[in-house]
Amino acid sequence: MTHRPHVYAPEIWNNPHPFYAALRREAPVSQVEPGGMWAVTRYEDVLYVLKNPQLFSSEGFRSAVQPAWLEQRNPVIDSILMMDPPTHTRLRSLITRTFSAPGVARLESSIRASAESIVADMLARRRVDFVESMALALPSRAMGALLGLDASLAPRFKSWADAVTGVGIIPAEATERRAELVAFLDDMKHHLTGVLELRQREPGNDVVSDLLQARAQGGVMSDDELMGFLVLLLVAGLETTYDLLGLCGLTLADNPDIWARLKKDRTLVPKFIEEVLRFESPSQSTIRTTTQETELGGVKLPKGATVLVQFVSANRDESVYRDAHRFDMDRTGVPSLAFGQGIHFCVGAPLARLEARLAVEVLLERCDRLVREPGPVTWNVAVTTRGPAVLPMELHPA
Ligand code: HEM
Repeated sequence: MTHRPHVYAPEIWNNPHPFYAALRREAPVSQVEPGGMWAVTRYEDVLYVLKNPQLFSSEGFRSAVQPAWLEQRNPVIDSILMMDPPTHTRLRSLITRTFSAPGVARLESSIRASAESIVADMLARRRVDFVESMALALPSRAMGALLGLDASLAPRFKSWADAVTGVGIIPAEATERRAELVAFLDDMKHHLTGVLELRQREPGNDVVSDLLQARAQGGVMSDDELMGFLVLLLVAGLETTYDLLGLCGLTLADNPDIWARLKKDRTLVPKFIEEVLRFESPSQSTIRTTTQETELGGVKLPKGATVLVQFVSANRDESVYRDAHRFDMDRTGVPSLAFGQGIHFCVGAPLARLEARLAVEVLLERCDRLVREPGPVTWNVAVTTRGPAVLPMELHPA
């Protein structure tokens, strides 16, 4: 058997772009490890997969997070991310309004206040880990408020989110870590059940109350599907946003010219964020399964094949983006696939963009510059997301 590259191998994970550039050129649809998944790397083929859910199902995602050893149900398997129409269509329609741009705009002042207090605290300490102080802290606070979870629980969210996806990649010999992940899943379910019970009795101004109201008004949603929603919001809404904010911090610290341009003209911040999303793809990939034998990019895929849809590669496709490997805030033309496309297009895109914009705006207002401790970046390894794991830096006040 020919040697297949392993996409989580450090030499690929630490700098995936040359690897995917070679695949796009030489083997745009080809098998990789783990599991002999079919990596799809060209923009055009990625878009085709996303636009054809009848050929490429999202239900196969479930087996990636519900391994045989896990006795309890991983609640995320009951979420829309892992469903096909018509169930997907029915459930997604219940949350689109809450997460629309006008829906999340009402959160702007509270997220800005959180960003202000986080940056003030970072400046007081001066030397900080940007990931811990900002990238983890801001989305945790925003999501906690959105779900109506007690603020004191925010430091646990990362462990919860890690557990939901981590059970799928933890090796058999790591028995202690397995037990730890199960304990985190139980803890998460316990607190989310508490919030559901509370909001049933006392509706508030949060997503849980919105969902309960949608159900009361005739929206069909089982208890498992309701729990699946909350868990998906925690996982999909946190890991990716942590990574996006970490990548923004890294880009700002390492590129004084970009920092200076943004300082002069804050209206460029949204363009900066779009380019960070394209350039580094915090959500590297997603998974689909073929529902029948299918041809893709000239390659025949058998029925039941697991397809690794590589946003990280599509977003650097040289046939779509001029000078694809250059960070260019002035880019126009085809938008990136950083938030996916088609029926599963990210529900939280307006919220993620809002959080990133506010974090960057407040940093520009309060800081003269960000100086990163020299050295290579350590990247976190997760099933589908990628961002800096730690980012020691010094903040200079404005
Ligand atoms: C789906 C990326 C933030 C909630 C997706 C998908 C991508 C994505 C690529 C599509 C996956 C697929 O097609 O299989 C991102 C990125 C984010 C981010 C890069 C931040 C930078 C958020 C936030 C929330 C959220 C803040 C929650 C408020 C969701 C949900 C889905 C989803 C619920 C599933 C939609 C469906 O299956 O119909 N996200 N996301 N995401 N995202 Fe996000």
